[in-house]
Amino acid sequence: MILKVARLGHPLLRQRAKAVPAAVIGRPEFQRFFDDLVETMHEYDGVGIAAPQVHVSLQVAVIEVAGNPRYPRAPRVPLTFLINPRVRPVGRRQVRGWEGCLSLPGLRGEVPRWEAVIVEGFDRRGRPVRLRARGFFARVVQHEWDHLQGHVYVDRMRGLSSLAYLAEHARFGAEE
Ligand code: NI
Repeated sequence: MILKVARLGHPLLRQRAKAVPAAVIGRPEFQRFFDDLVETMHEYDGVGIAAPQVHVSLQVAVIEVAGNPRYPRAPRVPLTFLINPRVRPVGRRQVRGWEGCLSLPGLRGEVPRWEAVIVEGFDRRGRPVRLRARGFFARVVQHEWDHLQGHVYVDRMRGLSSLAYLAEHARFGAEE
């Protein structure tokens, strides 16, 4: 089922999401919610989506990058489920790159992010996972993790001068 996406201004996008209790993960309705998250992400050509974006205040996010028309040059990332993730940087290096968000449709902005991060949490079956992500994958992890803390990418921009509508960005913007 495709879920309705909350846009900037909805208070849920500004709240820290609640941790998922371990006992809930195996329940059919929770597993269905994961399927719905993936379906919603695909419907809107997202490379990731977090539960607060579909009006559910839980520490859950899904990431997948596979031939996405919104990010045509991004390296592939297999479907990744994150429950109660914790994210920390590897090293101190930050890189700038373009981001958009399904909750701020039609916009792009340049955002500095850690180049590499370690993510610890649980997968969709509740098994502990520990991932090392770098480059665009690390960027998406930080973007989705921010959603779970009540932040959106414009909060992370150094200034708003790169904020652009997608269509204008495509005409005049820098490289992806
Ligand atoms: Ni987003």
